[in-house]
Amino acid sequence: MKALRDWIHKEKPLDRHDRERWLQYLSVTKEDRKTIVAMKDDFAPHIDEFVADFCGHLLKQKETSVFIMDTDVIKRLKPSVKKYWTQLLKGNYGSGYFNDRLKAAHTHERIGVGPGWYIGAYTRCFQFATDRIFLKYPDKPEQAQQAIAAFTKVFFLDMSIAMEAYAYKTHDRLKTAELETIYRLSRAAEYRDDQTGNHIMRLGHYSAVVARNMNMKGDEVEDIFAAAPMHDIGKIGVPDSILLKPDKLTPEEFEKIKAHPIIGGLILSTPESRLLQKAQEIALSHHERYDGTGYPHRLHSDEIPLSGKIIGVCDVFDALTTKRPYKPAFSNDEALTEIKKGEGSHFDPQVSGAFFKGVDEILSIQKRFQEETAY
Ligand SMILES: [Fe+2]
Ligand SMILES: [Fe+2]
Repeated sequence: MKALRDWIHKEKPLDRHDRERWLQYLSVTKEDRKTIVAMKDDFAPHIDEFVADFCGHLLKQKETSVFIMDTDVIKRLKPSVKKYWTQLLKGNYGSGYFNDRLKAAHTHERIGVGPGWYIGAYTRCFQFATDRIFLKYPDKPEQAQQAIAAFTKVFFLDMSIAMEAYAYKTHDRLKTAELETIYRLSRAAEYRDDQTGNHIMRLGHYSAVVARNMNMKGDEVEDIFAAAPMHDIGKIGVPDSILLKPDKLTPEEFEKIKAHPIIGGLILSTPESRLLQKAQEIALSHHERYDGTGYPHRLHSDEIPLSGKIIGVCDVFDALTTKRPYKPAFSNDEALTEIKKGEGSHFDPQVSGAFFKGVDEILSIQKRFQEETAY
C-alpha cells in the first residue's frame, strides 16, 4: 500500500497565493509590521522569562505534560519558542515564516496536541505581548492600541495557519480511509483473477500518466488514479466458470462477461460521491471502442467519456502483458504493437498518443509492480 500512501500523504505546502490570501484576510499592513518591529527591544530581554513561564504552563496541563516531561522535548521546545518570537519581531512574514508555522503545526498535530490547547498557547503569547505594550506606552493609549491590534493580527495569522494544517490532516486521513477502502474492495472484486492486486495498482498509475499527458488538471488526475481500481467491480456478478475458463468462451458466455460494465455501473450508482461517480463512468465505458463497436452501449468517439478511453487503453496494455488462464503474456513490444494497430479503431488516437508519450514511465511502473510482488 506504500504506493497509494505516497500518492496521498503530501504535507500541503503554502504557496505565495496562500500567503497573500492570509495576510489580506487579516489586513496585516506595512504599518503593523513597523509597529511590531518597534517593540523588538522591549520584548527581547524578556523572552527567556516568557519561555520559562510558557514551559512551566505546559507542564501543568494534563494534555501537554505527557510529552513535555520528555527532557529532549523541553530541550527542543525552548529554542523553538525563542526562535518564534525572534521571527515574529522581525516583522517579515514571508515564506520562511509561514513554512515554520506550518511545520510546527504539523509536528504538534502529530504528537497529539489538540487544537484547543493550541489556541490557549496563543492566549498566553497575547498576554505577554500586552504586558510589554502597556509597559512601553503607559500614557499613550493610541500607540498601545495600535500595537495590540498589530500583534493580534499576527497571532490570528499564526493560529489560522495552524488550524489550516490541522484541518488538512483530518481531510488527509479521511481521504486515505476512503481510498484504502476503495482499493481493498476493488482487490476483493479482482481477487479471483489477480490475487496480488497489482493489476489495479498498475492500472491506476498508468492511467494517471496518460491523464497527465492529456493535460488533465491535478484533481482530475487524482480522481482517475483513485477510481481506476474499480473499473471491473462488476465482474463480481460473473460466475467463476466463465471468468476463469481457460478455453475460448461461447457467444453466450461472452454475453455474460459483457454484462460486467452494467453491473459495475449499478454497484457504483450514487449521487453523493464525486469519486464514485467517476468510478461509475469508468466502469460503464472502459470497454467502449472509438469506432463504436465496443460494449455495453456501442458509444462512438466523443460519446465515450475521456476517463473510460484512458482506462480502456491502459487496461488492454496490462491485460496483454499479463498471463491469464486462457493466454500467455505478450512481450511489451508485442503489446505496444497491438495498441498501435488499434489506434483510430479501438482507441482514440489522442489517448493512445498520450499513452505512447508516457511509455517509458509506464514501463517503469510495470517493473515496480510485477505480478510476484504480493502485498
Ligand atoms: Fe472490464
Ligand atoms: Fe482490468
